[in-house]
Amino acid sequence: MKRILYKIGIITGTIFMFTSCGGGVPEETTTETLANDKVFDVADVLAMIAEENDVTRTLYTKAIVGAGKKQGLKFDEDWQKDDVEAGPLPALFLRGISSDIQKSEVPLGLYLGSDFPINASNKLEGKQAALFDKIKKDQKPQHFFDEDQQLYTAMFADIAGAAPCVNCHNDHEQSPKKDWKLGDVMGATTWQYPSDKLSYEETMDVIKAYRDGTKAVYNAYLSEIEAFKTSEKPTIGEKWPSSGFHLPTAEVFIDSVRLLTSYHTMEMLLTKAKKSSGEVATR
Ligand code: HEC
Repeated sequence: MKRILYKIGIITGTIFMFTSCGGGVPEETTTETLANDKVFDVADVLAMIAEENDVTRTLYTKAIVGAGKKQGLKFDEDWQKDDVEAGPLPALFLRGISSDIQKSEVPLGLYLGSDFPINASNKLEGKQAALFDKIKKDQKPQHFFDEDQQLYTAMFADIAGAAPCVNCHNDHEQSPKKDWKLGDVMGATTWQYPSDKLSYEETMDVIKAYRDGTKAVYNAYLSEIEAFKTSEKPTIGEKWPSSGFHLPTAEVFIDSVRLLTSYHTMEMLLTKAKKSSGEVATR
């Protein structure tokens, strides 16, 4: 019975999370001590958030950048310079999310690195460089404890899934590698967190920090458009670039990410919760 109540608690919390724009943990759950039990393994939480990140990046790359370009929208690595009227490239969209998370109180780290980076500061080093060699061979995620930084770390392959990845990197003057091919592992997204177990509340905070980061960068892009002086401005509302010279609002964009990831996220929350001893929570 208590176990059922526990699950209902999680489900209510999850539904609240997926239906409220601001996200957050409902009060009834935070007041229960259950919310503070360390029921999730850091590896499961990082795998879940990495999947959400994949969906976000793919949606941004295809539905905003890919479809937007066909409508005449521009995307540039110097998008934030005053004289450039453009949106962020996918890698910079991710970097923006990562720095927004860094500003939050949630101790979650996110990086996009490579062994042949366009931006030298994205070069994988030390243990991460060694593990990246493995990832390049089998494309499997790597989970480990980074002794130097004292952080639980998970790395996931970043694959050249579309021609623009390969073309842009091969043509870029700062790229140290000019022969990337479709399907290559071009880099890895690295996620870090300081403890090996997370409570329900901490897990919700991780999801919220990631989504808030996405909203912040997307909104920065919309503000950039607002300030365009010479370029035509798309209408911003419910519609996407696939149906004309439009861009969705940040809420519409995040709602789509939420819809695309909710099944897996919910599944993780319902099936992976366990007591630190390894049993399923029964309170
Ligand atoms: C229009 C150009 C362009 C496209 C398209 C593009 N990238 Fe990049 N990518 C860049 C730039 C520029 C950077 C460096 C950003 C920075 O300053 O951190 C970058 C950074 C990266 C990095 C971090 C390492 C590095 O090179 O600095 C990875 C990994 C990466 N991109 C993979 C991809 C993948 C995979 C795709 C396709 C899904 C892709 N990129 C599409 C331009 C592009």
